[in-house]
Amino acid sequence: MLKVYADRWGLVTGASSGIGAEFARQLAARGMHLVLVARREDRLQTLARELEAAHGIRCEIVPADLSQPHAGRQLLAEVSRRGIVVELLVNNAGLGMVSSVQKTDLGRAMELIQVNVMGLTELTLLMAKEMADRGHGGIINIGSIVSFQPVGYMGVYAASKAYVLHFSEALWAEMRSHGVTVTTLCPGTTRTEFFDTSGVPGWAEKNRGADVASVVRAGLKAFDAGRQYVVAGWANYLVSLAARLATRATVVKSSMGIFRNHG
Ligand SMILES: NC(=O)c1ccc[n+]([C@@H]2O[C@H](COP(=O)([O-])OP(=O)(O)OC[C@H]3O[C@@H](n4cnc5c(N)ncnc54)[C@H](OP(=O)(O)O)[C@@H]3O)[C@@H](O)[C@H]2O)c1
Repeated sequence: MLKVYADRWGLVTGASSGIGAEFARQLAARGMHLVLVARREDRLQTLARELEAAHGIRCEIVPADLSQPHAGRQLLAEVSRRGIVVELLVNNAGLGMVSSVQKTDLGRAMELIQVNVMGLTELTLLMAKEMADRGHGGIINIGSIVSFQPVGYMGVYAASKAYVLHFSEALWAEMRSHGVTVTTLCPGTTRTEFFDTSGVPGWAEKNRGADVASVVRAGLKAFDAGRQYVVAGWANYLVSLAARLATRATVVKSSMGIFRNHG
């Protein structure tokens, strides 16, 4: 459990845009010092300057490519070399892919699994152990509305997010008696760069995607309440429940309509 944010350190992966940058903004507003991680260092520098000026907090930049094996381990070694103790980890870095099987770029699929699954797992396990030894801390992992069901033409991504939810929920149950909260934030479609790099540019704008501020607020509220997961937005929550009521065949067949023209 994390009761105090001010003067503690948070680490946000994928802080160079979208939901991650907004996590950094909202945590900085709570007085948290931040380690900002992503590949685009220039963007991290700009954000760091903005947050330091606006909130009087400290920011450290650690550029990292989390698609590289053991990048998470190297990242945490660097953080500890700088003398920083991380009280809140936000595993937000992630990428998507919309594609038919025939057109799938295998390299992109493997990169996706490395970042969304392997990198997140490495950082979560390393940090959860450290936090449990200290008896306090928190982790927010970013799942998705697609954590609850398979999605045609988005199979690899949806499966990666199902993994994030199941893995993180198990840790939530295991870690709570050690003073560590693990919350999964499951956003629906959100207006970021995500769909532009996933093969369906403009998707979020065309489909009335949520704004990042409301998504991050929902995540932090659930984390503060010690909840194991939250779906951002009531309509999305109802969609996540619907997937439990229909047969699995019905759910996955109907998902084919979402990206059929883009696959
Ligand atoms: N937008 C949505 O509709 C939506 C819905 C549900 C869940 N999500 C999830 O929300 C999270 C944030 O996505 P977003 O919507 O904010 O998209 P975004 O704007 O594209 O941001 C993705 C972030 O991940 C970082 N990243 C990607 N590959 C990386 C790598 N190899 N190493 C380090 N960092 C990497 C990017 O930084 P660099 O490129 O600078 O490295 C960027 O900061 C993701 O986990 C995504 O799956 C998004």
